[in-house]
Amino acid sequence: MRTIMVINAKGGSGKSTIATNLASYYASTAKKVSLVDYDPQGSSLAWLKARPINKPKIQGIDGSRSTVNPGRGTGYMIMDAPASVHGKDLSNLVRHAHTFIIPVLPSPIDMRAAADYIKEIRNTNTIAAHKGKICLLANRGRDNTKVFWQLDEFLDHLREPYVAALSDSMHYVRAADKGLGIFEMAPAATAIVRAEWQPLIEWLDSKGSQP
Ligand SMILES: Nc1ncnc2c1ncn2[C@@H]1O[C@H](COP(=O)(O)OP(=O)(O)O)[C@@H](O)[C@H]1O
Ligand SMILES: [Mg+2]
Repeated sequence: MRTIMVINAKGGSGKSTIATNLASYYASTAKKVSLVDYDPQGSSLAWLKARPINKPKIQGIDGSRSTVNPGRGTGYMIMDAPASVHGKDLSNLVRHAHTFIIPVLPSPIDMRAAADYIKEIRNTNTIAAHKGKICLLANRGRDNTKVFWQLDEFLDHLREPYVAALSDSMHYVRAADKGLGIFEMAPAATAIVRAEWQPLIEWLDSKGSQP
């Protein structure tokens, strides 16, 4: 079973958006998927509640309360982390996954916070013990803005692989409202935003993303 956690210290960086879209992507490829929401805010579980019953099923687990028990045969366990988890709590949280996606927004404050947090995650004893693999993702990019190029350059210079850049797009907002992922929306309209996920999905399929 693959265990993939979306994590960043900052709220609003796109953790829940990426976790829910990834869960629906794998579910739409006929994989058995669990979505574990460790955030007491429960955005991922709220998304799951809105999900139409005729769409591929995803098991929701409230990681902030219950012990996490994925169903038999689960292929992918996608985890949505809360913001601002540090120290011992962070070590305990990252124990649950082997692969980590860190989304960063094009904003100087977010980049600075991410630089510190990436170091903190990298140095947790559990990541080291698990040989966990981390990748970086630019989220809500707008082409040809100076701050996006700054984010691009910032992510390029970190030790972890910078695998994909997702645009700021209303498709994410519309999909979230319906309990869907962008891979379940009209293909022609979402072709560009879907294509941006390809390098992330390829990385997740590669050996480099697994211990
Ligand atoms: N790529 C994107 N394009 C447009 N809106 C986005 C994108 N990523 C996230 N959002 C929006 O930004 C807000 C915060 O995202 P969310 O995934 O809830 O962040 P987090 O879980 O890190 O707090 C939400 O309203 C979400 O719809
Ligand atoms: Mg969230």
